[in-house]
Amino acid sequence: MTIAVTGATGHLGRLAVAALLRRGVAASDVVAVVRNREKAADLTALGVQVRVADYADRGAVEAALAGVGKLLLISGSEVGSRVPQHANIIDAAKAAGVGLIAYTSIPDAPNNTLQLAQEHQVTERLLAESGIDHVLLRNGWYWENYTNDLAGTAERGVLVGSAGDGKVAGAARADYAEAAAAVLTSSEDQAGRVYELGGDERLTYPELAQAISNVTGKPVEFRNLPVAEYQGVLESVGLPAPVAAVLADADAGVATGVLDITSGDLQRLIGRPSTSLEDVLRAAL
Ligand SMILES: NC(=O)c1ccc[n+]([C@@H]2O[C@H](COP(=O)([O-])OP(=O)(O)OC[C@H]3O[C@@H](n4cnc5c(N)ncnc54)[C@H](OP(=O)(O)O)[C@@H]3O)[C@@H](O)[C@H]2O)c1
Repeated sequence: MTIAVTGATGHLGRLAVAALLRRGVAASDVVAVVRNREKAADLTALGVQVRVADYADRGAVEAALAGVGKLLLISGSEVGSRVPQHANIIDAAKAAGVGLIAYTSIPDAPNNTLQLAQEHQVTERLLAESGIDHVLLRNGWYWENYTNDLAGTAERGVLVGSAGDGKVAGAARADYAEAAAAVLTSSEDQAGRVYELGGDERLTYPELAQAISNVTGKPVEFRNLPVAEYQGVLESVGLPAPVAAVLADADAGVATGVLDITSGDLQRLIGRPSTSLEDVLRAAL
């Protein structure tokens, strides 16, 4: 059974390829779909099949999926362009005869109120309409989302955001990659399953600030800001306005509990507790 991974040169994609190999899938049975062959030199060195296709190139994606049995469709990173890209991949997978698509979605996608959820909602609908067997990996937040500018945060002693006292059940990217590999290599039929994936630690932002303080050795406190003000802070450090808006909106969503996941699905799939925030922060430092 050949297993393909899109976005294989991305953070999650590389970890998913590694997890498949660790689970005993032969390198020659893994197809890494990438848009830049040079960036995939390390994957080529592992012996996996590297095939080049941009998500926007329907024909190239179909060619890349020839002979593939299962596909890990990692959601694209170009927010705003993902619906046509994902539609291309689903169409191409159908034409290529792919048997199962595992799609990396967002928690409780149909009811999720985050702006970021909209493209996932449409993609889940496209999958349902495609008639292809599929499984939804509704990934919660990566702890790595909190590793940007750790030193700066520690220096200033302030973590800003709009999450109020909402909780995030985060986990390491490697945990989500391991879960995806577990699903793709499972001997059980995965078609129609929905996994709500979140970590063991469900932390408020004051607790995130404490964790940053613990690993950096500097006092850090959380300062809650109105969403518009937080968006302004993100723009002031160089984020384009639309990206800042989506991230501030996600933070406000944390306050309402949309990223607080208690299903236990991640832990059951990976067979261990998820990675702690402090471990991820330490690795990032
Ligand atoms: N749960 C969370 O906390 C969270 C946070 C951020 C993002 N996400 C979502 O999860 C996905 C994976 O996360 P990540 O950290 O691995 O992101 P990432 O490192 O940015 O990886 C995204 C991958 O998608 C590929 N890609 C994007 N647009 C493409 C296109 N048009 N054609 C072909 N490949 C394309 C990128 O290719 P290149 O390697 O060539 O750039 C990259 O390999 C993201 O794309 C996003 O949808 C989730």
